[in-house]
Amino acid sequence: MEALRLVLRYAHLIGFALLLGGAITQYLTGRIRINAAMLWGAAIQLLTGIGLAAPLRGGGDAEPDPAKLAVKGVVALAIFVMVFLSRKRDVVNSGHFIAIVGLTLFNAAVAVFWR
Ligand code: HEM
Repeated sequence: MEALRLVLRYAHLIGFALLLGGAITQYLTGRIRINAAMLWGAAIQLLTGIGLAAPLRGGGDAEPDPAKLAVKGVVALAIFVMVFLSRKRDVVNSGHFIAIVGLTLFNAAVAVFWR
């Protein structure tokens, strides 16, 4: 179980890198659109996050707070829907794009600071 948790955690960090790195890189090009790295990252975060939410730590106090998981789940779903629905647009609204980046940073902060 511990090996599975570590593999999921490793993939979760790679998904985070794809989503945030893809978004920042795209933003810096000056053409605001959804790229493949963002789409993969958003999907990987949702799937690996669901895996990490399983009781892999032996139960009890070692498991993450269910409220924290619910917040992360809702935010990650919102990110995925926002990325998925606008994936084919040549240009997306900058407010929409910045919201994707902001929600990604918010979810990383929830992961790290909510103990
Ligand atoms: C865009 C969405 C997400 C982002 C940016 C994100 C970000 C992160 C980050 C930065 C970590 C820290 C990893 C570490 O300390 O090693 C983490 C861990 C974690 N995330 Fe996410 N996450 C997202 C979605 C989700 C979802 C949907 C869930 C489940 C509902 C989830 C559940 C977890 C859990 C349980 C951990 C702790 C891993 C462990 O130490 O066992 N995450 N996440």
